[in-house]
Amino acid sequence: MNSNEGQKSVKIERVTMSKKICILGLGYIGMPTAAMFASNGYEIVGVDVNETVVNQLNKGEITIEEPYLGDLVKQVVSEKRLRASVTPEEADVFIIAVPTPIMDDKSADMTYVESATRMIVPYLKKGDTIILESTSPPGTVEKLMCPILETSGFDLHEDLYVAHSPERVIPGKILIELVENNRIVGGINEASSRKVMHLYESFVKGEIYLTDATTAEMCKLMENTFRDVNISLANELAIICEQMGINAWDVIEFANKHPRVFIHQPGPGVGGHCLAVDPWFIVEKFPEDTKIIRLARETNDLMPMHVFKRLKGILGTLRNKTVTVLGITYKPDIDDLRESPILQLVELLEEIEGITLKLVDPYVSEYRHLTEDVQDALTDTDMIILGVNHHEFSELDFADVKVPVLDTRNFLSKESREQLGDNYYLIGKGRQL
Ligand SMILES: NC(=O)c1ccc[n+]([C@@H]2O[C@H](COP(=O)([O-])OP(=O)(O)OC[C@H]3O[C@@H](n4cnc5c(N)ncnc54)[C@H](O)[C@@H]3O)[C@@H](O)[C@H]2O)c1
Repeated sequence: MNSNEGQKSVKIERVTMSKKICILGLGYIGMPTAAMFASNGYEIVGVDVNETVVNQLNKGEITIEEPYLGDLVKQVVSEKRLRASVTPEEADVFIIAVPTPIMDDKSADMTYVESATRMIVPYLKKGDTIILESTSPPGTVEKLMCPILETSGFDLHEDLYVAHSPERVIPGKILIELVENNRIVGGINEASSRKVMHLYESFVKGEIYLTDATTAEMCKLMENTFRDVNISLANELAIICEQMGINAWDVIEFANKHPRVFIHQPGPGVGGHCLAVDPWFIVEKFPEDTKIIRLARETNDLMPMHVFKRLKGILGTLRNKTVTVLGITYKPDIDDLRESPILQLVELLEEIEGITLKLVDPYVSEYRHLTEDVQDALTDTDMIILGVNHHEFSELDFADVKVPVLDTRNFLSKESREQLGDNYYLIGKGRQL
């Protein structure tokens, strides 16, 4: 394991293995984390304010879609190593994995972190460890959590261990990445960093890097900001190439042959609760000094409108037309709709007079305009948009499709493109001027 030089003078005698962990927030992050610790020898109490989540978990059932998680949860619940409750209880470690969304004005909604921190205060005892896993604005541990934890009467530097360890797993591969990813641990002091590192060492096979809490918070935010800014660059290129009558995907492919160039891929916008949200946490703190970050967010947020304008350009008018949208989640092969740019496109389409929408998504069971009749959606329509590249769509047969298809992901096969001929349109590719 790695640690930075300054942290080597830590008093190792304070480090002992912890036995009982209380995890607050049993969503995409908290639930797999709870199951992972439980399957590695810890007694876990999962806490959630949502009673349905708690009741389901106590029956050994999960409320999110994630490969292999259902089996693991069933096993650790049946072995009585994981149970759930609506209230915290005494434990050796408290892990907070509650939501950190943005509000309409793009400022961080920290009420969940604040209330979860307050909830654990009555249960703290000397020697306990508190870890924030939620992605948070820089300074959250030091300025928001520490003052609340101090109301327990404990001296944070003498009696407790406090750290931020941001989660960087990707839905769909959470159980693999929890183990294999590198992890950052930022403590309020060296003892906290080391204590928390030893806890994660029980299952993490990646490197664990130690730093301070605010640096750890900033690392997580900049990872997502880096990607968001680079996607916005690709989206800008896509818009320019469409106007020039060339293909941005070719530009990217050839430019990326350069050993030090890695242009990202354009698309219909950036969704999810991370990339579309986290950069705003930095902008909020430093509005005058985050011009690039803000512009990237705004550029990506405008992409659903750009797709909408392309549709209008292709069909002339959308009034009284039928439009099929393939895929509405924020990325392929998952059921997560949070901040999905395709849903923003759907909302723009819904405003058109007389329009009929047919949405197809194998991962979503409930949403307005959803249809399971794929054949009808492909043939009885005026226009098809490939919104999300779910792997199931690679098997679609476009032989009978006689209407324009707009591919927002550069996803359709060579064969499908040939079948569609002049009816195939691609985001980022203009027609020759
Ligand atoms: N989902 C991801 O892929 C991902 C990846 C990396 C980081 N994160 C971050 O992890 C954090 C959690 O995200 P998530 O996707 O697991 O959220 P989620 O919405 O799936 O789950 C959060 C859970 O917390 C519960 N909750 C809210 N307030 C609570 C409280 N006071 N006490 C106990 N439970 C409470 C909610 O009922 C919900 O079940 C966020 O900060 C997110 O940005 C998420």
